Amino acid sequence: MYEARERRDAMTKDIFPERYARELEDLLRASERAVAFTGAGVSEESGIPTFRGQEGLWDRYPPYLYANLGGLALLFLARPSRVAAFASNVIASLLDAVPNPCHEVLAGWEAAGRIRGVITQNVDDLHAVAGSRNVCELHGNAFRVRCLRCGSKEKLPRERLQEMSWQLRREKPSRTGLLRLLLDYASRCRDCGGRRRPDVVLFGEGLPAEEWDRAFRWASQADLFLVVGTSALVYPAAVLPRLARESGALVVEVNPEPTPVTALAGLHVPFPAGSFFSLFCARGDP
Ligand code: APR
Repeated sequence: MYEARERRDAMTKDIFPERYARELEDLLRASERAVAFTGAGVSEESGIPTFRGQEGLWDRYPPYLYANLGGLALLFLARPSRVAAFASNVIASLLDAVPNPCHEVLAGWEAAGRIRGVITQNVDDLHAVAGSRNVCELHGNAFRVRCLRCGSKEKLPRERLQEMSWQLRREKPSRTGLLRLLLDYASRCRDCGGRRRPDVVLFGEGLPAEEWDRAFRWASQADLFLVVGTSALVYPAAVLPRLARESGALVVEVNPEPTPVTALAGLHVPFPAGSFFSLFCARGDP
């Protein structure tokens, strides 16, 4: 009897996301130190392509060229038009994107004290735009620049990025034109006059120490670790779900596909984040 009911429950859960939403709701209510950990999948329904999987960004732009300084420098010298096309496409998708229900609900849960904050691998600023205040940006933020000399950071107005995207599309710049555009976008540091670069972490670069320390602390103190929309393949960020689990947290994963986190998870919600979290909006959830 019990066996049959459990099988039926498993069946209905797989079909009805509402049952998962109720279960997550119960887990949240019982937790005191919940933390969300997000990847590119949470912004997929906002129109920003993920890096891996069908039509992933890295399929079109191999990361060994486009996601590390050496590769970008090589491309810049050999095929500057490709760097311009890559930058223009990425910037356009970032500028067109708006938060979806996943960003909004996580921001609401933080404001209501139900989660401590969000550790994100994303650089699209959508958690902050949705209202999240405690955001741990492990891989930086595409709307911010960092001084190469003194390290000071400054958020740039979106209009600046918009202008750059138009110029990249309009002019199909030469090497020197592209260099001027990039230097102009980053401009000079207000504090020390040094050159600046986009404040994003490329492959082979270290994560910002203070962000990593904070993420490590949150994960090791969490009692509920909500992993949303990440393939959990890129380290050191990918260590966090296991760290949380080994520190005693219950891991919940929201991802239409299985990942290395699925085996750690006490609950795997196999639905897209935006549509799943819209259930909490519909319920008037804070
Ligand atoms: N809702 C939830 N999850 C989704 C959705 C969605 N709508 N769409 C895709 N996913 C899942 C995919 O199944 C995949 O597991 O999101 C994950 C996206 O994986 P990646 O593209 O690898 O993105 P991410 O895990 O954030 O990558 C980590 O790798 O290239 C670096 O710096 C880059 O921060 C990035 C890091």
